[in-house]
Amino acid sequence: MNKNLRKTVIAGNWKMNKTPSEALEFVKELAPIADNADCDVVACVPYVCLQNALASAAGSKLKIGAQNLHWEAKGAYTGEISADMLKDLGVEYVIIGHSERRQYFAETDVTVNKKVVSALAAGLKPILCVGELLAEREQGITAEIVRMQTKVALIGVEKESLKDIIIAYEPVWAIGTGKTATSDQADEVCGIIRDVIAELYDKDAAEGTTIQYGGSMNAGNAKELLSKYHVDGGLIGGASLKSADFGIIVDAAK
Ligand code: 13P
Repeated sequence: MNKNLRKTVIAGNWKMNKTPSEALEFVKELAPIADNADCDVVACVPYVCLQNALASAAGSKLKIGAQNLHWEAKGAYTGEISADMLKDLGVEYVIIGHSERRQYFAETDVTVNKKVVSALAAGLKPILCVGELLAEREQGITAEIVRMQTKVALIGVEKESLKDIIIAYEPVWAIGTGKTATSDQADEVCGIIRDVIAELYDKDAAEGTTIQYGGSMNAGNAKELLSKYHVDGGLIGGASLKSADFGIIVDAAK
């Protein structure tokens, strides 16, 4: 299949950065970048910034996403936010299973799966993160880890829902370290994820799925990474907090 037939998505993950007031202003800088892009552009912002980000993005092509959700629709889950709450605000995307949540907040493949199912049921588009630790890469088990994370995350997900899911390959050792995977490493593992989709569903589904790379992607290396056959976009942390850098990355997807 021609890679250009797949949807390319560049998404910023602000992580725990920017106040609601800062978000209101910063999204005004991002909106024109999205309007001039050849790909979909998303900003995944902290919960408290969602409303301001949505207000600033209104009328532009910039899409707004959250960074997490709880899988239950409502109830006694103090401090948590449900998919329906996000949907009601007008949020379109939600990052699920980011390695920082797996590492610091005890997320497992099983809870990630519950969150994916719940997001889809509410009409949100999950950006499902998978990726290996440095020790796992050194042990030679990257493929096993990424295959397992992908397979468990997709339990109960129908083929028709795949068009609403983005998978982000984020090697944990490349996140916030300045240590990017080489474009060949990124392409290889994104290809492994595509093979898993083909095994679980079929080849058409696999060829149509958007698979991003994330991990120290920046203005300098984006073009090379995005040129790879299996890399259909990026999930950008640090470089999404500066509009000039983020704009260069979005341009690199052209
Ligand atoms: P960095 O781009 O800062 O390495 O973060 C990547 C990431 O975790 C995006 O979700």
